[in-house]
Amino acid sequence: MDIFEVKTDKRAFIDLLLQADEQEDMIMRYLDRGTMYALAENDVKAVCVVTDEGNSVLEIKNIAVRTEFRRMGYGKKLVGFVEKKYKGLYNVLKVGTGDSELTIPFYEKCGFKETYRVKNFFVDNYDHPIFECGKQLIDMVYLEKAI
Ligand SMILES: CC(C)(COP(=O)(O)OP(=O)(O)OC[C@H]1O[C@@H](n2cnc3c(N)ncnc32)[C@H](O)[C@@H]1OP(=O)(O)O)[C@@H](O)C(=O)NCCC(=O)NCCS
Repeated sequence: MDIFEVKTDKRAFIDLLLQADEQEDMIMRYLDRGTMYALAENDVKAVCVVTDEGNSVLEIKNIAVRTEFRRMGYGKKLVGFVEKKYKGLYNVLKVGTGDSELTIPFYEKCGFKETYRVKNFFVDNYDHPIFECGKQLIDMVYLEKAI
């Protein structure tokens, strides 16, 4: 297994990025300024994008594992890689997600704790309603962990 930085043509992974954030123009808000990592075992199985948010805060803007390889530990390995790589350079690793049973338990298992919510984020920023597990996502839930 190898995790490496994707320095050129980050858009080649748009299909995977869209699984975590289904509106392309929202991805474009952070893709160029973000640092992308890919996890490969033979081929690429997962990607993530992190951004410098100032004040010693690093944010995971996007993390996605190919559907058929979920629940096999790849997501947690990527988060662990980011933590190790940026330890000492940032104090806090942060992530924002919808109030979804597909994502919040994952981040909690990775050691994140909820810190605050941005009301109506998904309604105000996306051009269509976003549903996960039959539930509309409304607020952005932020979770953080010290690194
Ligand atoms: C969320 C996502 C990145 C998780 O990656 P993953 O590789 O499937 O997760 P892992 O196998 O590394 O799981 C790590 C831990 O979280 C738990 N977990 C993962 N998904 C879970 C879920 N939906 N419900 C409960 N627990 C979950 C695992 O059981 C595991 O627990 P353990 O440490 O006790 O073994 C992946 O499901 C995904 O790509 N989803 C679609 C894109 C997406 O929604 N991205 C996040 C946008 S905010």
